[in-house]
Amino acid sequence: MISRFSLLLFLFLVIVPLSKSSIFKTFIKSSPSSVVFPLSGNVFPLGYYSVLMQIGSPPKAFQFDIDTGSDLTWVQCDAPCSGCTLPPNLQYKPKGNIIPCSNPICTALHWPNKPHCPNPQEQCDYEVKYADQGSSMGALVTDQFPLKLVNGSFMQPPVAFGCGYDQSYPSAHPPPATAGVLGLGRGKIGLLTQLVSAGLTRNVVGHCLSSKGGGFLFFGDNLVPSIGVAWTPLLSQDNHYTTGPADLLFNGKPTGLKGLKLIFDTGSSYTYFNSKAYQTIINLIGNDLKVSPLKVAKEDKTLPICWKGAKPFKSVLEVKNFFKTITINFTNGRRNTQLYLAPELYLIVSKTGNVCLGLLNGSEVGLQNSNVIGDISMQGLMMIYDNEKQQLGWVSSDCNKLPKT
Ligand SMILES: *[C@@H]1O[C@H](CO)[C@@H](O)[C@H](O)[C@H]1NC(C)=O
Ligand SMILES: *[C@@H]1O[C@H](CO)[C@@H](O)[C@H](O)[C@H]1NC(C)=O
Ligand SMILES: *[C@@H]1O[C@H](CO)[C@@H](O)[C@H](O)[C@H]1NC(C)=O
Repeated sequence: MISRFSLLLFLFLVIVPLSKSSIFKTFIKSSPSSVVFPLSGNVFPLGYYSVLMQIGSPPKAFQFDIDTGSDLTWVQCDAPCSGCTLPPNLQYKPKGNIIPCSNPICTALHWPNKPHCPNPQEQCDYEVKYADQGSSMGALVTDQFPLKLVNGSFMQPPVAFGCGYDQSYPSAHPPPATAGVLGLGRGKIGLLTQLVSAGLTRNVVGHCLSSKGGGFLFFGDNLVPSIGVAWTPLLSQDNHYTTGPADLLFNGKPTGLKGLKLIFDTGSSYTYFNSKAYQTIINLIGNDLKVSPLKVAKEDKTLPICWKGAKPFKSVLEVKNFFKTITINFTNGRRNTQLYLAPELYLIVSKTGNVCLGLLNGSEVGLQNSNVIGDISMQGLMMIYDNEKQQLGWVSSDCNKLPKT
């Protein structure tokens, strides 16, 4: 019942003032700018996209895993550190810039719980756990983030982030080469919220993940194309970028899968469907492949389901004809919007040249009924998380070209 109430409240608050917002904007004297960063990384074999960001004065560079599925930014920190993968000279060193637990940002971080704060001057502890069992523990600190805005100005806003001195990584994977996680979620502690509060950008974040690796990340709305973007409302119940309800179509035909909610999460390499949707989709794909030269490759442990051809494949494009497009049909907006998952947005080629399904069973990893759209299904798209208008947009883009500003 709580979620239904907040959804109604959201519709009331957002739809009603929309017509006036464009008038108000023209009266704001200096309109916020944007900032763009190149990305590196890929879906396979790395499994993440990362950004190089400077912190402090003099600035020191850190590579962050970008994560729209969480709010807190944290970096491996020499305090001293356990479970750090970086050598001490590459870790962040706090210099008396610890945020006390009585600071409102500490309360926001721990909301709806209260921070442990027996003495108001004590450090603000944090702990984040990710769906893959990885975690980071530490204390909140504040430091400058030097940024070059697209309007030419150089800014150094103070940003609160986590100094992580106790990390653990899921044992199934090698630990990432990154120094930490850049939390792009919409919570108060998120980097975006902090840039917005400092008046630097509008409350919009976006990314373009290239299928060739790399791409770009941006904060602010100056790069958002004015035409051609497909938009769907963001649901307001939680801190995640959740959309829906949506129906799934396979090869343009209904699958009977309806009313799905989908979380857009760059912290996930692959896409997860709930048990029922997953079962339905693998049956449909399996049926098509019965009359194709592809055979199941049980020996390939890259992902749960892989297929082999007569000879190893180099690119997903070689098998594109054997697989169909999965359409996500959002049925809630003022207009219906579709996100098309062509085969290259749900398949990868393994190291041995088999083709593997980048769609996974979310129920198996404890996601219950949620569905998660991961990096694999956002390649070649400029994705726009617009918290000003509470909507998510996407448009086909050349992600290897930094946008002109
Ligand atoms: C660029 O944008 C920032 C943030 O909105 C603003 O403070 C600054 O004055 C702008 N600079 C120029 C040159 O317009
Ligand atoms: C998407 O759903 C809407 C509403 O149910 C329906 O009218 C429309 O035909 C669907 N679009 C596609 C491409 O199936
Ligand atoms: C998905 O995971 C659930 C929970 O582990 C399991 O019960 C179900 O059989 C799985 N579905 C498929 C198709 O593997």
